[in-house]
Amino acid sequence: MKPLRVLFVCLGNICRSPLAEGAARKLAGERGLQELFYFDSAATSAYHVGESYDPRVRAVLAEHDALFDHTVRQVSRRDFQEFDWILGMDRENLRGLTRLAPSNARAALALVSEPWGGGEVSDPYYQDDWACEQTYLELSDLTDRWLKRWLEET
Ligand code: 4NP
Repeated sequence: MKPLRVLFVCLGNICRSPLAEGAARKLAGERGLQELFYFDSAATSAYHVGESYDPRVRAVLAEHDALFDHTVRQVSRRDFQEFDWILGMDRENLRGLTRLAPSNARAALALVSEPWGGGEVSDPYYQDDWACEQTYLELSDLTDRWLKRWLEET
């Protein structure tokens, strides 16, 4: 079976989307579901292309044993054909994604919180260190919900 391909997207790809990717990889790994899912993350902006995580994000991912190799990249039009789901963190991300999306996009586009009320995942970049931990916990909960949903659908 081909893995379900999921791309998490935020503005910079140094905070929220790598936190989501790390949480999703960790949960799938713990449950022996690595073969069923492929996770990646990307930025709507080019601000940090080629860099790795924000150092605060690295610390949080390390604390949760959820580090993975990460190099910031920008979303490309090809992603809309190659992924099944593209999940943004806030409405600005979705606006950026919608602008980029080709008319024949294969990927379903949604807010990461969409099935559970559609609230925005606020950006820890401008906040204190604890905000990164809180964002990890929020995204771990949301990705856990998505995993359950996707497993029910397969
Ligand atoms: P992210 O956070 O979108 O969660 O990765 C940000 C990272 C960098 C910037 C903004 C948000 N920036 O303006 O450089």
